Amino acid sequence: MELFDAIINRRTTNTAFVNKKISQEHLDLLVKMASHAPSHFNSQPWRFIVVEEEDCIKKIAKIAGNSMTQLMDDGRFWKQYRKYFRFSEEEIEKTKDGIHIDHLPAFLKPFAKTIFSEAGAKIISRFRVSRILGNDEEKLVATSPLLFVILLTKDEYKKEELSGFYSVISMGAVIQTLWLSTTAIGMGMQFISTPGEIPENWKAISDMLNVPDTFEMMAIFRMGYTDKNIPRPVIDWKSSQRKDITELAFKNNFGGSLK
Ligand SMILES: Cc1cc2nc3c(=O)[nH]c(=O)nc-3n(C[C@H](O)[C@H](O)[C@H](O)COP(=O)(O)O)c2cc1C
Repeated sequence: MELFDAIINRRTTNTAFVNKKISQEHLDLLVKMASHAPSHFNSQPWRFIVVEEEDCIKKIAKIAGNSMTQLMDDGRFWKQYRKYFRFSEEEIEKTKDGIHIDHLPAFLKPFAKTIFSEAGAKIISRFRVSRILGNDEEKLVATSPLLFVILLTKDEYKKEELSGFYSVISMGAVIQTLWLSTTAIGMGMQFISTPGEIPENWKAISDMLNVPDTFEMMAIFRMGYTDKNIPRPVIDWKSSQRKDITELAFKNNFGGSLK
Protein backbone atom coordinates (compact mmCIF):
# COMPACT_ATOMS: atom_id res chain seq x y z
CA MET A 1 0.00 0.00 0.00
CA GLU A 2 1.23 3.48 -0.83
CA LEU A 3 2.17 5.57 2.19
CA PHE A 4 -0.30 8.36 1.42
CA ASP A 5 -3.14 5.86 0.91
CA ALA A 6 -2.35 4.27 4.26
CA ILE A 7 -2.38 7.68 5.96
CA ILE A 8 -5.75 8.60 4.49
CA ASN A 9 -7.38 5.18 4.82
CA ARG A 10 -6.18 4.51 8.37
CA ARG A 11 -9.17 4.23 10.69
CA THR A 12 -9.91 3.12 14.21
CA THR A 13 -11.36 -0.39 14.06
CA ASN A 14 -14.51 -0.47 16.17
CA THR A 15 -15.68 -3.91 15.09
CA ALA A 16 -14.43 -7.32 16.14
CA PHE A 17 -11.46 -8.76 14.30
CA VAL A 18 -11.21 -11.91 12.20
CA ASN A 19 -10.83 -14.98 14.40
CA LYS A 20 -7.24 -15.60 13.34
CA LYS A 21 -3.92 -15.48 15.15
CA ILE A 22 -1.48 -12.80 14.02
CA SER A 23 1.29 -14.41 11.97
CA GLN A 24 4.79 -14.38 13.44
CA GLU A 25 5.92 -12.46 10.36
CA HIS A 26 3.38 -9.69 11.00
CA LEU A 27 4.09 -9.59 14.72
CA ASP A 28 7.82 -9.20 14.06
CA LEU A 29 7.11 -6.54 11.45
CA LEU A 30 4.94 -4.47 13.80
CA VAL A 31 7.49 -4.51 16.61
CA LYS A 32 10.29 -3.68 14.19
CA MET A 33 8.36 -0.77 12.64
CA ALA A 34 7.45 0.57 16.11
CA SER A 35 11.12 0.43 17.14
CA HIS A 36 12.04 2.71 14.23
CA ALA A 37 10.00 5.67 15.51
CA PRO A 38 11.92 8.86 16.37
CA SER A 39 12.64 9.82 20.00
CA HIS A 40 14.46 12.64 21.78
CA PHE A 41 18.24 11.98 21.61
CA ASN A 42 17.33 8.53 20.24
CA SER A 43 16.46 7.65 23.84
CA GLN A 44 13.88 5.03 22.76
CA PRO A 45 12.05 5.52 26.05
CA TRP A 46 9.46 2.84 25.22
CA ARG A 47 9.07 -0.85 25.82
CA PHE A 48 6.38 -2.97 24.19
CA ILE A 49 4.45 -5.96 25.51
CA VAL A 50 2.52 -7.98 22.95
CA VAL A 51 -0.14 -10.06 24.65
CA GLU A 52 -1.40 -13.15 22.84
CA GLU A 53 -2.24 -15.32 25.81
CA GLU A 54 -6.04 -15.85 25.69
CA ASP A 55 -6.55 -16.01 29.42
CA CYS A 56 -4.72 -12.74 29.99
CA ILE A 57 -6.62 -11.02 27.14
CA LYS A 58 -9.92 -12.16 28.68
CA LYS A 59 -8.96 -10.76 32.09
CA ILE A 60 -8.00 -7.42 30.55
CA ALA A 61 -11.26 -7.48 28.56
CA LYS A 62 -13.25 -7.89 31.77
CA ILE A 63 -11.50 -4.91 33.33
CA ALA A 64 -12.04 -2.82 30.16
CA GLY A 65 -15.75 -3.72 30.02
CA ASN A 66 -16.26 -2.97 33.71
CA SER A 67 -14.41 0.32 33.31
CA MET A 68 -16.74 1.38 30.50
CA THR A 69 -19.83 0.46 32.54
CA GLN A 70 -18.50 2.27 35.59
CA LEU A 71 -17.64 5.42 33.61
CA MET A 72 -21.12 5.48 32.09
CA ASP A 73 -22.88 4.77 35.39
CA ASP A 74 -21.15 7.47 37.36
CA GLY A 75 -21.83 10.02 34.61
CA ARG A 76 -18.16 10.80 34.09
CA PHE A 77 -18.03 9.61 30.50
CA TRP A 78 -20.79 11.76 29.03
CA LYS A 79 -19.94 14.75 31.19
CA GLN A 80 -16.34 14.75 30.03
CA TYR A 81 -16.83 13.81 26.39
CA ARG A 82 -20.31 14.97 25.50
CA LYS A 83 -18.91 17.93 23.56
CA TYR A 84 -17.55 15.44 21.01
CA PHE A 85 -20.78 13.51 20.42
CA ARG A 86 -22.66 14.13 17.15
CA PHE A 87 -26.01 12.56 16.37
CA SER A 88 -26.57 13.20 12.67
CA GLU A 89 -24.62 13.36 9.45
CA GLU A 90 -25.53 17.07 9.15
CA GLU A 91 -24.16 17.81 12.61
CA ILE A 92 -20.77 16.19 12.02
CA GLU A 93 -20.53 17.60 8.49
CA LYS A 94 -20.96 21.02 10.05
CA THR A 95 -18.41 20.70 12.86
CA LYS A 96 -16.07 18.28 11.01
CA ASP A 97 -14.91 16.98 14.36
CA GLY A 98 -16.11 14.69 17.12
CA ILE A 99 -17.66 11.27 16.62
CA HIS A 100 -20.98 10.52 14.93
CA ILE A 101 -22.94 7.99 16.98
CA ASP A 102 -24.76 6.56 13.97
CA HIS A 103 -25.44 3.00 15.09
CA LEU A 104 -27.90 2.40 17.91
CA PRO A 105 -30.41 -0.37 18.63
CA ALA A 106 -33.95 0.58 17.45
CA PHE A 107 -35.28 1.01 21.01
CA LEU A 108 -32.63 3.63 21.75
CA LYS A 109 -32.92 5.67 18.54
CA PRO A 110 -35.69 7.97 19.83
CA PHE A 111 -33.44 8.83 22.79
CA ALA A 112 -30.21 9.27 20.84
CA LYS A 113 -29.66 12.88 21.80
CA THR A 114 -30.65 12.50 25.45
CA ILE A 115 -28.60 9.40 26.25
CA PHE A 116 -25.43 11.39 26.08
CA SER A 117 -26.81 14.54 27.65
CA GLU A 118 -27.28 15.92 31.14
CA ALA A 119 -30.73 14.28 31.27
CA GLY A 120 -29.38 10.98 30.02
CA ALA A 121 -28.66 9.29 33.34
CA LYS A 122 -32.25 8.03 33.70
CA ILE A 123 -32.33 6.64 30.18
CA ILE A 124 -28.92 5.08 30.65
CA SER A 125 -30.13 3.17 33.67
CA ARG A 126 -33.62 2.39 32.28
CA PHE A 127 -32.22 0.83 29.10
CA ARG A 128 -29.04 -0.46 30.71
CA VAL A 129 -26.94 1.48 28.20
CA SER A 130 -23.87 1.24 30.41
CA ARG A 131 -24.19 -2.56 30.34
CA ILE A 132 -24.59 -2.62 26.55
CA LEU A 133 -21.46 -0.51 26.13
CA GLY A 134 -19.56 -2.48 28.76
CA ASN A 135 -20.51 -5.80 27.15
CA ASP A 136 -19.55 -4.53 23.70
CA GLU A 137 -16.18 -3.39 25.04
CA GLU A 138 -15.52 -6.65 26.86
CA LYS A 139 -16.46 -8.74 23.83
CA LEU A 140 -14.33 -6.66 21.45
CA VAL A 141 -11.26 -6.93 23.64
CA ALA A 142 -11.79 -10.59 24.60
CA THR A 143 -12.01 -11.69 20.96
CA SER A 144 -8.94 -9.75 19.85
CA PRO A 145 -6.00 -11.97 18.90
CA LEU A 146 -3.45 -9.42 20.07
CA LEU A 147 -3.06 -6.61 22.57
CA PHE A 148 -0.18 -4.22 22.06
CA VAL A 149 0.93 -2.43 25.21
CA ILE A 150 3.29 0.55 25.30
CA LEU A 151 5.34 1.48 28.37
CA LEU A 152 7.59 4.49 28.94
CA THR A 153 10.63 4.49 31.21
CA LYS A 154 10.17 6.72 34.25
CA ASP A 155 13.76 7.93 33.71
CA GLU A 156 12.34 9.94 30.81
CA TYR A 157 8.62 10.09 31.47
CA LYS A 158 8.58 12.68 34.25
CA LYS A 159 5.30 14.51 34.10
CA GLU A 160 6.59 17.94 35.11
CA GLU A 161 9.71 17.87 32.94
CA LEU A 162 10.37 18.48 29.27
CA SER A 163 11.64 14.89 28.89
CA GLY A 164 8.15 13.74 29.92
CA PHE A 165 6.64 15.80 27.13
CA TYR A 166 9.25 14.54 24.64
CA SER A 167 8.59 10.94 25.69
CA VAL A 168 4.90 11.33 24.98
CA ILE A 169 5.62 12.86 21.57
CA SER A 170 7.96 9.93 20.85
CA MET A 171 5.25 7.47 21.86
CA GLY A 172 2.83 9.27 19.54
CA ALA A 173 5.23 8.55 16.69
CA VAL A 174 5.23 4.87 17.68
CA ILE A 175 1.46 4.79 17.74
CA GLN A 176 1.03 6.33 14.30
CA THR A 177 3.73 4.03 12.92
CA LEU A 178 1.81 1.05 14.28
CA TRP A 179 -1.46 2.38 12.94
CA LEU A 180 -0.07 2.84 9.43
CA SER A 181 1.76 -0.50 9.51
CA THR A 182 -1.37 -2.40 10.57
CA THR A 183 -3.35 -0.62 7.83
CA ALA A 184 -0.77 -1.66 5.24
CA ILE A 185 -1.08 -5.37 6.08
CA GLY A 186 -4.86 -5.71 6.42
CA MET A 187 -4.93 -5.33 10.17
CA GLY A 188 -6.65 -2.76 12.38
CA MET A 189 -6.25 -1.38 15.87
CA GLN A 190 -8.27 0.37 18.54
CA PHE A 191 -7.27 2.20 21.70
CA ILE A 192 -8.45 0.60 24.94
CA SER A 193 -8.50 3.71 27.07
CA THR A 194 -11.42 3.21 29.46
CA PRO A 195 -9.35 1.38 32.15
CA GLY A 196 -6.89 4.29 32.04
CA GLU A 197 -9.61 6.57 33.41
CA ILE A 198 -9.88 4.50 36.60
CA PRO A 199 -6.43 4.34 38.26
CA GLU A 200 -7.03 1.11 40.20
CA ASN A 201 -8.15 -0.67 37.00
CA TRP A 202 -5.09 0.54 35.12
CA LYS A 203 -2.87 -0.65 37.96
CA ALA A 204 -4.56 -4.07 37.97
CA ILE A 205 -3.65 -4.51 34.28
CA SER A 206 -0.14 -3.16 34.79
CA ASP A 207 0.40 -5.62 37.66
CA MET A 208 -1.00 -8.49 35.60
CA LEU A 209 1.61 -7.72 32.93
CA ASN A 210 4.43 -7.51 35.50
CA VAL A 211 5.33 -3.96 34.49
CA PRO A 212 8.31 -3.01 36.69
CA ASP A 213 8.18 0.08 38.93
CA THR A 214 10.70 1.79 36.67
CA PHE A 215 8.18 1.88 33.79
CA GLU A 216 4.76 3.47 33.37
CA MET A 217 2.15 1.64 31.32
CA MET A 218 0.91 4.29 28.90
CA ALA A 219 -1.34 2.77 26.24
CA ILE A 220 -3.06 -0.46 25.26
CA PHE A 221 -4.38 -1.31 21.80
CA ARG A 222 -6.32 -4.28 20.55
CA MET A 223 -5.21 -5.49 17.14
CA GLY A 224 -6.22 -8.06 14.57
CA TYR A 225 -7.05 -8.71 10.95
CA THR A 226 -10.02 -6.73 9.65
CA ASP A 227 -12.98 -7.79 7.52
CA LYS A 228 -15.56 -5.29 6.27
CA ASN A 229 -18.34 -7.89 6.64
CA ILE A 230 -17.98 -8.20 10.41
CA PRO A 231 -21.07 -6.60 12.04
CA ARG A 232 -20.73 -3.41 14.04
CA PRO A 233 -21.07 -3.30 17.85
CA VAL A 234 -24.58 -2.64 19.25
CA ILE A 235 -23.75 1.04 19.84
CA ASP A 236 -21.19 2.44 17.44
CA TRP A 237 -19.74 5.58 15.88
CA LYS A 238 -17.81 6.88 12.88
CA SER A 239 -15.41 9.80 12.62
CA SER A 240 -13.72 10.06 9.25
CA GLN A 241 -14.39 13.81 8.83
CA ARG A 242 -11.52 16.25 9.09
CA LYS A 243 -11.58 20.01 9.32
CA ASP A 244 -10.83 21.98 6.19
CA ILE A 245 -7.11 22.67 5.72
CA THR A 246 -7.79 26.42 5.66
CA GLU A 247 -9.14 26.15 9.22
CA LEU A 248 -6.16 24.12 10.44
CA ALA A 249 -3.13 25.67 8.81
CA PHE A 250 -1.92 29.19 8.18
CA LYS A 251 0.79 30.91 6.24
CA ASN A 252 3.38 33.19 7.88
CA ASN A 253 1.28 33.99 10.93
CA PHE A 254 -1.77 32.70 12.78
CA GLY A 255 -4.79 33.38 10.57
CA GLY A 256 -2.70 34.04 7.44
CA SER A 257 -4.36 32.46 4.40
CA LEU A 258 -2.59 29.43 2.94
CA LYS A 259 -3.59 30.29 -0.61
C1 LIG B 1 -5.18 9.55 22.68
C2 LIG B 1 -6.29 8.82 21.97
C3 LIG B 1 -7.22 8.11 22.71
C4 LIG B 1 -8.24 7.40 22.08
N1 LIG B 1 -9.11 6.63 22.81
C5 LIG B 1 -10.00 5.84 22.16
C6 LIG B 1 -10.80 4.90 22.85
O1 LIG B 1 -10.76 4.77 24.06
N2 LIG B 1 -11.64 4.11 22.16
C7 LIG B 1 -11.73 4.19 20.79
O2 LIG B 1 -12.49 3.44 20.20
N3 LIG B 1 -10.98 5.08 20.12
C8 LIG B 1 -10.13 5.90 20.75
N4 LIG B 1 -9.34 6.77 20.04
C9 LIG B 1 -9.53 6.88 18.59
C10 LIG B 1 -10.21 8.19 18.18
O3 LIG B 1 -11.54 8.22 18.61
C11 LIG B 1 -10.12 8.28 16.67
O4 LIG B 1 -8.77 8.34 16.30
C12 LIG B 1 -10.81 9.54 16.11
O5 LIG B 1 -12.19 9.51 16.37
C13 LIG B 1 -10.61 9.62 14.59
O6 LIG B 1 -11.11 8.44 13.98
P1 LIG B 1 -10.18 7.51 13.10
O7 LIG B 1 -9.08 7.00 13.98
O8 LIG B 1 -11.07 6.39 12.63
O9 LIG B 1 -9.67 8.35 11.98
C14 LIG B 1 -8.33 7.46 20.67
C15 LIG B 1 -7.39 8.19 19.93
C16 LIG B 1 -6.37 8.85 20.56
C17 LIG B 1 -5.35 9.59 19.72
